[in-house]
Amino acid sequence: MNKLGILIFGAVFMASVFVQAQDTYYPSEENLKSRKEFAESKFGIFLHWGIYSMFGQGEWYMQNENINFKEYAKAADGFYPHRFDPAAWVSAIKAAGAKYVCLTSRHHDGFSMWGTKQSKYNIVDATPYGKDIIKLLADECHKQGIKLHLYYSHLDWTREDYPWGRTGLHVGRDKSKNNWQSYYNFMNNQLTELLTNYGEIGAIWFDGHWDHDEDATPFDWELDTQYALIHKLQPGCLVGNNHHLNPYPGEDIQIFERDLPGENTTGWSKAGISKLPLETCETMNGMWGYKVSDQNYKSVPELIRLLVNTAGKGANLLLNIGPQPNGELPEIALKRLHDIGTWMNQYGETIYGTTAGSLPVQEWGATTCKGGVEYIHILNYKYTYFTIPVKGKIKEVKEFASGKLLNFKQNKDNTITIKLNPHDDVVDYVLEIR
Ligand code: GLC
Repeated sequence: MNKLGILIFGAVFMASVFVQAQDTYYPSEENLKSRKEFAESKFGIFLHWGIYSMFGQGEWYMQNENINFKEYAKAADGFYPHRFDPAAWVSAIKAAGAKYVCLTSRHHDGFSMWGTKQSKYNIVDATPYGKDIIKLLADECHKQGIKLHLYYSHLDWTREDYPWGRTGLHVGRDKSKNNWQSYYNFMNNQLTELLTNYGEIGAIWFDGHWDHDEDATPFDWELDTQYALIHKLQPGCLVGNNHHLNPYPGEDIQIFERDLPGENTTGWSKAGISKLPLETCETMNGMWGYKVSDQNYKSVPELIRLLVNTAGKGANLLLNIGPQPNGELPEIALKRLHDIGTWMNQYGETIYGTTAGSLPVQEWGATTCKGGVEYIHILNYKYTYFTIPVKGKIKEVKEFASGKLLNFKQNKDNTITIKLNPHDDVVDYVLEIR
């Protein structure tokens, strides 16, 4: 091999080593512990809150109505959520049985909900309110012992250095100012602030990756370096990305949007199911950010079924609420939280710490499992005799709510037939099988 050949060989060899190093991610002990805790927690509350709440049209208002970004930004000067009471939020969320809160730290509109030093377009510098929302909520979460996760948008409709994707193209930004390096540094500096100044952060929840899914040349978000930064700052912090793809190395949880793992009603849930802890996010009404006209809240039975079916898939439910511009959670949302809490107080044992049961989600309901006990959640079956497949010999079948034993017959074809008590008025009729 001549000199040039050696040089080329060397370069190719180094490049392959480098790529390999990037592809290999070994989560730390702390991270594995967080994953386990996350997987066991099963239920979290998502909060989409920012200056978009003031328009009462959901968080996509700026892009959907092609609002000029400078005009839109004027809303910040009127943002004064004087009824924001972090203690009341966290208490209501905890009482619902949720184990974590995920707040939008900065959504696609680019407004930051903390006193970032990277831009003046933030809650402390640009609003008359002037208080750091992330700090107030983080302190309260830590005080009340509930995890705080932070949503962070990869895309930005306001910053001109953000390289244009397929949304936010008609809001008045100057394309010639796109500058990935500047934007990437901005994001990493912001993430450093979030992971340095607010105590323990349970997860960073990325969104917006899909903005570049139609690029002619695949867009390089340089995720590996960003993920490594997060894990360096807080090894236990989970990284999740709502990119609708199979997880990338460096991600610790897999996110599904408005679909249970394995379902694809939205058309964008085409990813496979990985071995990572899973999470499905869903709205309580129809919108993520506050929408004044949307009072179409899911009923309590619908929400309980959703939670149970999600657990039956082995996933967590991240249930969204859009707080009002005045800082309050909508009254109906509070009522729903309260009612879910009442149910969780009684049935939480059949949800927390469980994995998917031995039967996949069925027409009649779902199954969860913990410590050798199978929980059969009958959500949709009105009759008396109930037959299901089982593995091996069944010792007993109990009605979970009353603790009473139920009669059953073990059949030759690896099924059992259970005689159920009347349960028409129960949302989730739970049996305990061992
Ligand atoms: C979508 C939307 C976004 C929302 C998110 C929540 O990606 O763009 O507005 O925050 O879903 O899952």
